[in-house]
Amino acid sequence: QGGATVSITVVGASGDLAKKKIFPALFALFYEDWLPEHFTVFGYARSKMSDEELRNMISLTLTCRIDQRENCSDKMEKFLKRCFYQSGQYNSEEGFSELDKKLKEKEKFNAKTSHQAGKVPNRLFYLSIPPNIFVDVVRSASRTASSQDGWTRFIVEKPFGRDSGSSGELTRSLKKYLAEEQIFRIDHYLGKELVENLSVLRFSNLVFEPLWSRNYIRNVQLIFSEDFGTEGRGGYFDNYGIIRDIMQNHLLQILALFAMETPVSLDAEDIRNEKVKVLRSMRQLRLEDVVVGQYKGHSKSGKTYPAYVDDPTVPSGSITPTFAAAALFIDNARWDGVPFLMKAGKALHTRRAEIRVQFRRVPGNLYRRNVVGTDLDKATNELVLRVQPDEAIYLKINNKVPGLGMRLDSSNLNLLYSERYRREIPDAYERLLLDAIEGERRLFIRSDELDAAWAIFTPVLKQLEEKRVAPELYPYGSRGPVGAHYLAANYNVRWGDISNDEN
Ligand code: BG6
Repeated sequence: QGGATVSITVVGASGDLAKKKIFPALFALFYEDWLPEHFTVFGYARSKMSDEELRNMISLTLTCRIDQRENCSDKMEKFLKRCFYQSGQYNSEEGFSELDKKLKEKEKFNAKTSHQAGKVPNRLFYLSIPPNIFVDVVRSASRTASSQDGWTRFIVEKPFGRDSGSSGELTRSLKKYLAEEQIFRIDHYLGKELVENLSVLRFSNLVFEPLWSRNYIRNVQLIFSEDFGTEGRGGYFDNYGIIRDIMQNHLLQILALFAMETPVSLDAEDIRNEKVKVLRSMRQLRLEDVVVGQYKGHSKSGKTYPAYVDDPTVPSGSITPTFAAAALFIDNARWDGVPFLMKAGKALHTRRAEIRVQFRRVPGNLYRRNVVGTDLDKATNELVLRVQPDEAIYLKINNKVPGLGMRLDSSNLNLLYSERYRREIPDAYERLLLDAIEGERRLFIRSDELDAAWAIFTPVLKQLEEKRVAPELYPYGSRGPVGAHYLAANYNVRWGDISNDEN
């Protein structure tokens, strides 16, 4: 349980992210007693609303997990009583000084009733707003609503610019008003259980780390797919596309954790130093190493699926990619020549995020003739970390099929979370909000990490736009463009999610 008192202001309180993720995550933390004893939640947005109206709005999206059913409505009631609302413009110092007054009242009240009177009040702002108003809010809020004695932190979430230049500009603008330690840049994939577990798997088991290099690993695949399209989010999405939406952040962050050297300690700065190092060792992505696609409409079994450009929020004739595959390389001693293949797409046949590690073939394999089928690729080991859904870690091994003959097949050593750990896994935002309150920066992106990440993708993004590269169209609900297979084949790789048996 956190010790100090904290006020959490959700700026953009009536937005989708706030309703779907942030308030429910705060409630889940409250349910489990993770929040400091004295906390207050404020919603801030332009529309006029009473505290009661905010509470009604939030209450519609709060849920209790299966393991949190006891006293659920009682807890909800208590949580909602701690929620308040302040309306104001995003660029208005008056609005935020009104908020400041209300925050002070609550903080005074908390100090009076607290067993820990004298604890300094801290303030956390969650900017759940479009990026073009980040700086306005930070300017007004930091000037008029910062904590006088405690800390003031701002959580911001991507997009952090569209390329190196605009991202650098945003960082410079934020740093006019805030110190780097006050900025918590979220990548919500870092709060996912399996992504956090990546370091545990690597560094607290003997069996993996010795194999974690070009000597034993043939390729690494980072795969993200969603089985729905942009559905109303086209206005945002069209300006960014899938490379900026998923690859430059979520998949690249996983890659950095996967490939970094052993950090000196688990301290945030030690980990982030290693991530920056590996990102800076990466080659800039080349146009010939990228395939882009866009989903098209089609009908199947009497059902019609819309094309990306049918989304009314998407400009007609848009060539923004909703799918991309890319081959990336790390030019350091550990990973020299190992392809890191990324694939990300919307409106595909399944919703899934996973990391697949394909190991080299066994040299001089005595059993190569006994492998069922003739596909030698299947005879290599593959480690899969399925981030979602159905979190799992499994290792494909070659195994003798029981019986008098000598036949081998590929079977899984399988750690399925739902079987091993019979509890619901907290949402990524719970972990990240808690860390921000506790000042744990390990899972947040430092500005030099962000710069290094943009440096890899900026040149190719520019080329794709300047050359107006036409995306390969793929039907909504399909496995995506065939171009992705040709790209992988250039590096002698097969996508594991397609060519292997599914777990
Ligand atoms: C967001 C992207 O960052 O991640 C969305 O902007 C995407 O386009 C979402 O749908 C996926 O997150 P999750 O946690 O549902 O896999």
